[in-house]
Amino acid sequence: MDYRTVGKTGIQVSPLCFGTMSFGGNADKEHSRALFQRSREAGINFFDTADVYNGGLAEEWLGEFIRGSRDELVLTTKAGFPSGTDINARGASRRHLRLSVERSLKRLGTDRIEFYFIHHFDSLTAIEETVRALDDLQQEGKILYPAVSNWSAWQIAKALGIAEREALARFELIQPMYNLVKRQAEVELLPLAASEQLGVISYSPLGGGLLTGKYGQGKQPEAGRLVDQANYARRYGEADYYTAADRFNAYASQYGAHPAALAVAWVLHHPAITAPIIGARSVEQLEPSIAALDIRLTPAARSEISSLSAAPPLATDRSEEG
Ligand SMILES: NC(=O)c1ccc[n+]([C@@H]2O[C@H](COP(=O)([O-])OP(=O)(O)OC[C@H]3O[C@@H](n4cnc5c(N)ncnc54)[C@H](OP(=O)(O)O)[C@@H]3O)[C@@H](O)[C@H]2O)c1
Repeated sequence: MDYRTVGKTGIQVSPLCFGTMSFGGNADKEHSRALFQRSREAGINFFDTADVYNGGLAEEWLGEFIRGSRDELVLTTKAGFPSGTDINARGASRRHLRLSVERSLKRLGTDRIEFYFIHHFDSLTAIEETVRALDDLQQEGKILYPAVSNWSAWQIAKALGIAEREALARFELIQPMYNLVKRQAEVELLPLAASEQLGVISYSPLGGGLLTGKYGQGKQPEAGRLVDQANYARRYGEADYYTAADRFNAYASQYGAHPAALAVAWVLHHPAITAPIIGARSVEQLEPSIAALDIRLTPAARSEISSLSAAPPLATDRSEEG
C-alpha cells in the first residue's frame, strides 16, 4: 500500500479513507460489517464518521467493528450539525464540542480520536473559542488533531492565524466536497492546503452516485441518493452536471475503467489530496472505488478528464495576464 502522510503530522494513512455515512442508514449491520471488512482487506486503515450519521449508529457500529484492531486504525469523527433538539446541541462552541467528544468517544469505544472535525462553519461562535476548545481537547488526549470540514478558505486561514499567534493546536486536516462536477475546492481550498501543508480528505468523489454510470441526460436509476434525497437532488440538479456525467461515462468506457473507479482515481491524483473518502451501501458498490487504487492516471489523462466538466472561475476577476 502506498501510504500517505497527513500534512505535517507524521501519521500514515491509506490513499483511500472509508466513510461510514451509510452505516445504520442504507446499509444494515451485516452490510456495514462487510463494508468494514472489505475495506480492511483492501489495506484501508483510515475511517471517517460523524456524530450525526444515522443518529449515532454509524459511530456505534464502527466502534464495534474496530474492536481488536483499534490501534492499527486512524479514525475521524465530527461535531457541529444538530445532534439533538436542545438549542445548544449544535455548533462549534466549547460547550457543544466537550459534550460531543465525550459521546463520540463512548460510541466509538475508544479513548482518543485521531482527527476531530468541526463539521461546518458556526457563525455564532468566535473562531478563537473553537480553536481554544479544540486545543484543550488535544491537551487532554481526547483528540489528537483538530480538523475542519465545509469551511471556506478565509475561515480556515483565519483559524490557522489564530492558532499560530496563540500557540494553539492548528487544523491539520480539511474535508471539502470534491468531485468532477463540484470543483470549487480547486480555487482556494486545495491551494491553501498545499501552501500550509494541511492534509485533505475530500468527500463525495462520485458526486453521491452521479459519476457511477447510472446517471446521465434523461437517465436515472429507480432508486439512489440523487433520486431519493431532496437535498442531494438539489445539490446535483444542474443539467450541466448530467451532460458532464454522460461525457465522463463515455471517457471511462474508452479508458477501460468502471466510471466509479475512474472518478475516485481522478480525485486521488490531485496533488493536494491525501485521500478521497469513499462511500457505498454494499460491497458490490464498494469494489470499483477500491479498484481506483490500481489506476495510475498520467497528468495528461487527468487533464483530459478535467476538461469534461466546467472548471470553476478563478478567485480574482483579473485573470487576463495569466
Ligand atoms: N463532511 C461532510 O459534510 C460530508 C458530507 C458527505 C459525505 N461525507 C463523508 O464522505 C463519505 C463519502 O461520501 P459520499 O457517500 O457522498 O460519496 P460518493 O462516493 O460521492 O457517493 C457514494 C454513493 O454513490 C452510490 N454508489 C457508490 N458506488 C456505486 C457503484 N459502484 N455503483 C452505483 N452507485 C454507487 C451510492 O449511493 P446510492 O446507492 O444511493 O446511489 C453511494 O452511497 C461519507 O460516508 C462520509 O464519511 C462527509
